[in-house]
Amino acid sequence: MVSSLGMLAIDARDVEKTFRSGWPRRRETQALRGVSLTVERGAIVGVLGPNGAGKTTLLSILATLLTPDRGTVMVLGHDVVREAGALRRRLNMASGRPSFLWSLRVAEILAFYGRLYGLSGATLRRRVDGLIELCELGPYRRIPYSDLSTGLKQRVALAKSLVNDPELLFLDEPTLGLDPDVSVRVRAHIARLRREQGITIVLTTHYMREADELCDEIAFIKGGRILARGTPGELKRQIRLGEVIALRLDPARVPWLSEIPGVLRCVEVDGWVECTVDEAEKRLPELLRALHTDGVVIRNVQVREPELEEVFVELAK
Ligand SMILES: Nc1ncnc2c1ncn2[C@@H]1O[C@H](COP(=O)(O)OP(=O)(O)OP(=O)(O)O)[C@@H](O)[C@H]1O
Ligand SMILES: [Mg+2]
Repeated sequence: MVSSLGMLAIDARDVEKTFRSGWPRRRETQALRGVSLTVERGAIVGVLGPNGAGKTTLLSILATLLTPDRGTVMVLGHDVVREAGALRRRLNMASGRPSFLWSLRVAEILAFYGRLYGLSGATLRRRVDGLIELCELGPYRRIPYSDLSTGLKQRVALAKSLVNDPELLFLDEPTLGLDPDVSVRVRAHIARLRREQGITIVLTTHYMREADELCDEIAFIKGGRILARGTPGELKRQIRLGEVIALRLDPARVPWLSEIPGVLRCVEVDGWVECTVDEAEKRLPELLRALHTDGVVIRNVQVREPELEEVFVELAK
């Protein structure tokens, strides 16, 4: 792959990190075992993986919060170890397990972090107001942090992570433990940040659907290694687990179906012909047209949502 220099927000190579803990019996945990990851500017990339895979460790290294043992990490053109200071003004990170001083009110939390970045007076007030509006926190600005629901706490964390107007944003499980409707809104926020402000975003998640919906590319990480990397579509094709178009046909068997471009395989299950396709939206009309032309009667059609989960289960084997 040709690396388009300057276009990369992140260029991490062979990153290793081992944690040493415990006394008197020292324990070593190899959290990252040679991770390479590139992220283009303006992209949303998802790091997906099970508990303990190394997601938070990787994000923390990219965000200059931890130093790698080995490997090189360039972020926004700077080395994360040698030039961490210059970088920190240009990036930020939010955790899905946020923690702020319980007695501070929402607006006070944001103002506090704004001051850490040197904002004051009218500029600080404008920034705080802007973030409160952006993250729809208006009704809660005077509520103490400890009184907020999980979803609101997460939104405060997101607002806080935007206080320095970052070019690059790391979100560690931004929708952890949220109700489905609240996660939908948080995801919409994230998509908007990229669309309207061009922020490059790297997020971690356990939720396949979230990665599928939100991310241009996904990196699967497990045991400190990246096992696969690609667009959601590429990953599904890579292990041939595309979307399924299930058909009830008359006659029940149509041998040429599996030869149509984009159809990865066809199997018969309980009187249904299940065609795995790369993209159902594109292939469904083609399939239906071809069947119709051939005089096959279509009695029923179902399209099953792609499950990145299946891809993941496959990869994690
Ligand atoms: N500060 C630390 N000291 C010792 N071990 C650690 C430390 N931080 C992480 N680890 C270990 O490193 C490995 C990777 O942890 P990490 O938190 O990066 O995983 P994760 O993918 O974020 O998991 P989760 O989905 O549970 O958040 C785990 O085995 C973890 O126990
Ligand atoms: Mg984590």
